[in-house]
Amino acid sequence: MATNDDHKTATLSFGDTTLELPMRSPSLGPDVIDIRKLYADGNVFTFDPGFTSTAACSSTITYIDGDKGELLYRGYPIEQLATKSHFLEVASLLLYGELPTAAELEDFESRVTNHTMLHEQMQNFFRGFRRDAPPMAIMVGVVGAMSAFYHDSTDINDPWQREVAAIRMIAKMPTIAAWAYKYSVGQPFIYPRNDLDYSSNFLRMCFAVPAADYEVDPILARAMDRILTLHADHEQNASTSTVRLASSSGANPFACIAAGIACLWGPAHGGANQACLQMLREIGTVDQIPEYIKRAKDKDDPFRLMGFGHRVYKNFDPRAKVMKESADEVLALMGIENNETLKVAKELERIALEDEYFVEKKLYPNVDFYSGIILDAMGFPEGMFTPIFALSRTVGWITQWKEMLGDPEQKIGRPRQLYTGVTRRDYVEVENR
Ligand code: SDX
Repeated sequence: MATNDDHKTATLSFGDTTLELPMRSPSLGPDVIDIRKLYADGNVFTFDPGFTSTAACSSTITYIDGDKGELLYRGYPIEQLATKSHFLEVASLLLYGELPTAAELEDFESRVTNHTMLHEQMQNFFRGFRRDAPPMAIMVGVVGAMSAFYHDSTDINDPWQREVAAIRMIAKMPTIAAWAYKYSVGQPFIYPRNDLDYSSNFLRMCFAVPAADYEVDPILARAMDRILTLHADHEQNASTSTVRLASSSGANPFACIAAGIACLWGPAHGGANQACLQMLREIGTVDQIPEYIKRAKDKDDPFRLMGFGHRVYKNFDPRAKVMKESADEVLALMGIENNETLKVAKELERIALEDEYFVEKKLYPNVDFYSGIILDAMGFPEGMFTPIFALSRTVGWITQWKEMLGDPEQKIGRPRQLYTGVTRRDYVEVENR
């Protein structure tokens, strides 16, 4: 937890007011100025749209150093976890704070494995959608509807129910995502299997059909597992902040996760992986890249390089580096290492990183730049990219949700505003207007 052992303060003076505001030091990262009493003592608000300089909470889960390009899950570097660990072990680490012993990991994996099935009646939700419904629309709806089926894990004041809700969310998201895909392609739902690991189970539910046996390729399962690990948590990003804000009102966990899924959907956030692949395909060939770089730099052109830039990373996104290695591995396995889209991506990255606009604005490829290329090579349609991101980020969302419920400093989120509307005026009858 942040401390104020050295009793540092910040002096804030404006008009004839001078305030001494307490400061708190983190274990990593910048100090914070505690402004909770600012309005009461100084009758002013701070103004920070997008929360670029605002810490909304204290947390012990994930740390990002944007200048160093560092991402730590409970202190462990993402590069090490992505290569040495696996998704469910990372999920256990995020949820409980420590790398599990072999016995703890076996117990956690067993609890997740035995919650992967959905209530049979929930299939009706899928069938209520049009076949061309975006899988993200289905995912938002079905996850929200879980609160209508799993009443025995919606009481947020019961630690046991919180634990069951966490396991259920992590366990059922692959089934929901896979069934959203199956429904969109008109194929029957494939049930989870308890003899498969988490990522293999998900791939089989997506690509198996009842008419034939299906063997998951271990290299693809490994690549999928790595993608899930890389996306698991990321501090107080937009969708995680949405989950925390929804949870601050006491909403049930399924409703909070549905809110997070809705926020992740946007192309500036989790929707960027789909938008990025569409952009790479629109560019088409390497010789078209300069035209798009020019457009990305043109203030009057709303076009942005999707998969580039980040609010926090002003060096490289460490996840993008691992993802790029995975892209090479998966496409070579698929025998498509000469994939034009991958060539455009690599050349676009090379050109952009030499261009003074991108260098000056510290724009680097982010986690979404290569992920779409890998998922496309694995056979997923673009509409499944963000649901896979949501599948993984559910671990982070539910971990942050649990942390918030246990944080004595947390209260309902209720920001104020800088009001710039008209001042008080009286109603005018229509005949006098
Ligand atoms: C994710 O927060 C997280 O942690 C998110 C995430 C996670 O794991 O949860 O990491 C996942 O959402 C990754 C980001 C995916 N989104 C994209 O790839 C979409 C493209 N990127 C941009 O929309 C943008 O970079 C953001 C949204 C990611 C960040 O926006 P910021 O921090 O608000 O930065 P900004 O828009 O203020 O940009 C700063 C400058 C601007 O120029 P000026 O107004 O200062 O002249 O950089 C420019 C922008 O115009 N800029 C870009 C650009 N991104 C920013 N110019 C061209 N192409 C881009 N991609």
